[in-house]
Amino acid sequence: MAVLTSGGDAPGMNAAIRAATLLALSRGVEVIGVHQGYRGLIEGDWRALDADHVAGIIREGGTILGSARSQQFREREGRDRARENLRRAGIDGLIVIGGNGSLTGARALVDPGEAGEDFALKIIGLPASIDNDLALTGLSIGVDTAMNTIVEACDKICDTASSHDRTFIVEVMGRDCGYLSMTSGIAAAANAVLFRESGKTETEIVDAVVKVILTARQRHGRPKSVLVIKAEGLGMPTERLKTAVDERLRSLVETPDPIETRVTVLGHTVRGGRPSAFDRLLASRLAHVAVRALLAGETLKMAAWGPWAETKPEYGRRAEADPHCWLVDLDAVLAETAKLLDGTSSVTQWRARIFDEISDVLAL
Ligand code: F6P
Repeated sequence: MAVLTSGGDAPGMNAAIRAATLLALSRGVEVIGVHQGYRGLIEGDWRALDADHVAGIIREGGTILGSARSQQFREREGRDRARENLRRAGIDGLIVIGGNGSLTGARALVDPGEAGEDFALKIIGLPASIDNDLALTGLSIGVDTAMNTIVEACDKICDTASSHDRTFIVEVMGRDCGYLSMTSGIAAAANAVLFRESGKTETEIVDAVVKVILTARQRHGRPKSVLVIKAEGLGMPTERLKTAVDERLRSLVETPDPIETRVTVLGHTVRGGRPSAFDRLLASRLAHVAVRALLAGETLKMAAWGPWAETKPEYGRRAEADPHCWLVDLDAVLAETAKLLDGTSSVTQWRARIFDEISDVLAL
């Protein structure tokens, strides 16, 4: 069995590698750790993993196997080389730990159209991406730690913001999915949460932020500071948002001391750090389910956490070994993920609607 981590690293990937390795070894299965994701498959860059290699890694962020966004693997030629290497090494099963791009790559690797009907590699995916941009799983590995990192940073920012009665716009990671901005927005008590899925125009975004700031000015005896959490994927760049908000405030409020906004971009900080206890547990439980599935001869499935609104019975089933986990069909995951990201999923629509409905509450 081979294991690889691909795409943006996520805290908890190591916990998944460890759990998958230990369970497989305990069942007498040889485990191969592939370096740098699909790049390692193409180059045959891997090594056998034993219990010593994974000792203690549950505590570490990042991934001991390394990760990459391989351009070569996007081409048929790259995938052919990967298949050839896998065949030659006699690898029968592959655990892919990663997000949307990584699981799309896994699907392409075993596509009978290009791999041939005799290519018997079995694949099980584990959702791992701080963006939580995969459908049919309530959570992906890494999201909880990233959320905690954001909340901790925002708590610190709020100390200085309230001292100066300032507005802070905090940009958090999330390229195609604003989930992190939404959940950390609630947990950090943000006054406004901005994400692409809301479909708001730039004017509407600026209006919303200015309204929140003006509401804060009317507070009595409390800090008039404001926390705005903005997803990286919002169409409007953060600096342009700041400039537009500052200009509008200058035109609306006559005061000798202008209302001040500041910007903090958390960037890759959000992806690092020791995995939270929950991420360690989630990764271990999903890996447990994934390896059992592989050993039972299953393929093209993803181990998932908790059912989602759009999970139809034909998409998957509860894992026998762990009733909180599911085994869902990989093609269904990819199809529902496309809807999650293009805004046609009922989950995305609910998220946008509920944040619209509570925007006045957040502002208070
Ligand atoms: O892994 C997801 C993610 O962290 C996104 O939130 C972000 O947009 C992207 O990866 C950054 O990618 P890279 O590390 O390749 O710059």
